[in-house]
Amino acid sequence: MRKMKPRVIVTRRWPAAVEQILAERFDATFNEGDAPLSPTQLKAAFLNFDAILPTVSDKLPAGIFPDADIRTRLLANFGVGFSHIDIDLAKARGITVTITPGVLTDCTADIAMSLLLSVARRTGEGERQLRAGGWAGWCPTHMIGTKVTGKTLGIIGMGRIGKAMARRAHFGFGMDVVFYNRSKVDDGETRAMGARQLASIDDVLAEADFVSLHCPGGAENRHLINAERLGAMKRGAFLINTARGDVVDQKALVAALREGKIAGAGLDVYDGEPAVPAALIETENVVLLPHLGSASEETRVAMGMRAVENLVAFFEGRPVPDRVV
Ligand code: DGY
Repeated sequence: MRKMKPRVIVTRRWPAAVEQILAERFDATFNEGDAPLSPTQLKAAFLNFDAILPTVSDKLPAGIFPDADIRTRLLANFGVGFSHIDIDLAKARGITVTITPGVLTDCTADIAMSLLLSVARRTGEGERQLRAGGWAGWCPTHMIGTKVTGKTLGIIGMGRIGKAMARRAHFGFGMDVVFYNRSKVDDGETRAMGARQLASIDDVLAEADFVSLHCPGGAENRHLINAERLGAMKRGAFLINTARGDVVDQKALVAALREGKIAGAGLDVYDGEPAVPAALIETENVVLLPHLGSASEETRVAMGMRAVENLVAFFEGRPVPDRVV
């Protein structure tokens, strides 16, 4: 008798090539409309599918896990961040969680660097002005920004993406790089990135002209950058966030921008996204992107393929490459 294919649900549209593989190898249900599944639909998915393939737009806190009869054995997340999933509960309920590390490192660091350049050199403001017909022509005092070369970049969280950002900033743009990381990064590796590891976040904030966040989101890092830390940044410094929105206290950020405590911010992620506070939208000296970190054709296919590898390994009973729990 032929073995039944595992039933899997893909919560959002994935690149077509990856969806095709999923359709061939699994009894796969796709979300044709691509609207985020409701909490009720997600809850039902735990009862009806062997694996759920969620993304950052699917919130999976405790309340979504049904009390009994969970059929789901695997959450194969499309993405590297997993703070939208209650990992402890998944573990307690015997559900494996996998992510897609490594494949989105360069593209996410590119977006962080692009936000840094954009906010420093006011390219968003410039483009808005030109498109609105407001450009009166070149003059020596028009839309003056901040030079990047020779400035200090402070990185909070020196994982893969933090390191890729450090290399870009140092070797590509002649910046000095200091960083904070919970654990010690190998000295040779630190030297090879042209960087210096400092003892605390506050040490980094005191030195950095640009602060770029590359740590995980979730309870542990919620509002890591709060009013006090924004106040500890150098006057005229810039904040870049491509990590998770909840790492920054957005109200405190708006206040710091308005009061001129910091010069600007470049954001790709928001607490409670896709909602973006009106106060940020109304503020000129911020560059706002719609969570584009990994959004390139090549990277999104690679993320999908990585999730498929995890899925296949799991259901073939092999060690799962990117297991979180
Ligand atoms: C990631 O991989 O964590 C990206 O932010 C998309 O979820």
